[in-house]
Amino acid sequence: MIHEMHIAALEETKSMMDRVQSGEDSTGSLAQQVTSLELLENYRRFGNLCGRECQFLDFHHTSEDNEIFPTIAEKGGEGLKRVIARLSEEHAAVHQLLKTLAMNVVVLHADPGPENFARTRETFEVLYEAILSHFGYEQAELAEAIDYYGLL
Ligand SMILES: [Fe+2]
Ligand SMILES: [Fe+2]
Repeated sequence: MIHEMHIAALEETKSMMDRVQSGEDSTGSLAQQVTSLELLENYRRFGNLCGRECQFLDFHHTSEDNEIFPTIAEKGGEGLKRVIARLSEEHAAVHQLLKTLAMNVVVLHADPGPENFARTRETFEVLYEAILSHFGYEQAELAEAIDYYGLL
C-alpha cells in the first residue's frame, strides 16, 4: 500500500515533467532567450513535486532500515539475511540518487531552464526505474516475512 502511494507520487511528478517537456518543445528555439511564464512556473512545480517525493522516499527507506530490516535479518534464516543485505545495498544506491536529484532540484530552482531541467529529468528517470525494480524485489521477497512477523 505504501509502495503504491509512492508510485502514484512518482507518476504525478512524471506527468508534470512531461508537461514541462511539451512546454519546452512548443516554445521552440526562441525559448532560449525568452522563457514563458508558464514554463517557468512548471519548472518550479516539477521541482517541488520532485523534492517532496525525494523526502518521502528517504523517510520510507529509513524506517525500513531502522525497523523492518533488522528484525527480519535477526529472526530470518540465511536466505532472508541475503535478501536484506541486497535490499540495504539498493537503499544506499537509491539514497545517492535522491541526493543527486535533490541537488538538481536546488539548481533548477535557482536557474530554471532547459539544461538544468534536462539534468534533473535524467536523474529522475534513473531513480524511477531503480525504485520500480527495488519495490518489486522487496515485495516479492518480504511480503511473507512481514506478514509472518507482524511487522506492518
Ligand atoms: Fe525498501
Ligand atoms: Fe519499501
